[in-house]
Amino acid sequence: MARFMFVTDLDNTLVGDDNALAELNDRLQRHRQEHGTKIVYATGRSPVLYRELQQEKNLMEPDALVLAVGTEIYLDGSDSPDSNWSETLSQGWDRNLVLSKTADFSELIPQPDSEQRPFKVSFFLKQEASVTVLPKLESELLQSNLNIKLIYSSGIDLDIVPRRSDKGQAVQFLRQKWKFVAEQTVVCGDSGNDIALFAVGNERGIIVGNARPELLQWHNENPANHRYLAQNACAGGIIEGLRHFGLIE
Ligand code: GLC
Ligand code: MG
Repeated sequence: MARFMFVTDLDNTLVGDDNALAELNDRLQRHRQEHGTKIVYATGRSPVLYRELQQEKNLMEPDALVLAVGTEIYLDGSDSPDSNWSETLSQGWDRNLVLSKTADFSELIPQPDSEQRPFKVSFFLKQEASVTVLPKLESELLQSNLNIKLIYSSGIDLDIVPRRSDKGQAVQFLRQKWKFVAEQTVVCGDSGNDIALFAVGNERGIIVGNARPELLQWHNENPANHRYLAQNACAGGIIEGLRHFGLIE
């Protein structure tokens, strides 16, 4: 068994089946001790909501945390986000202009304050409305020369972030830092904000069995041999995928 970089989304990917989670934790813990495998959580959650889940589910400490859909990277348990990464994202990002442009769209309901972050503006947007609102909103924002990206997940969550940022690009940053090639990296997810994890290159991908339609549709349109669609849900699907790739026994 060789070391690898393990990257996983939290809600409905790592977390969702407590028994399977306990088994996976155990295996990963041992793999980290014996082989130096690195563990990364990549979530849309803010620091506040991450800590809540971490305590509730007793998640093990990762080697790096990617929060707020890739706009914040925390290394080795640090309380402050990596400043090189923040620096990269700040170029061309104008949060106030995003706020004033989005105020014209009555369908956008602001998410709680804790989820509004320096490089992330988030709303709830109903699936029915999203079909017309998303293209309109995107063209409005791009016309104002805003260097942004829209990420829509689970038929409700809309994140507006700098164009240079998403979970996938945050993982590239870590891969380069720790010198893992794509083939030694595995990414796991279930919904729209995880597409960037799978889209970025030749990383091994595990789509859990309970994945959302937006991710399954993307997967069907972009099939790849280095991506595995699991039968089992959540952590059970991750264990299945890690075995498929020969990363664990
Ligand atoms: C998490 C975050 C939320 C975000 C969603 C999708 O639920 O709390 O702000 O919109 O992930 O990325
Ligand atoms: Mg998820």
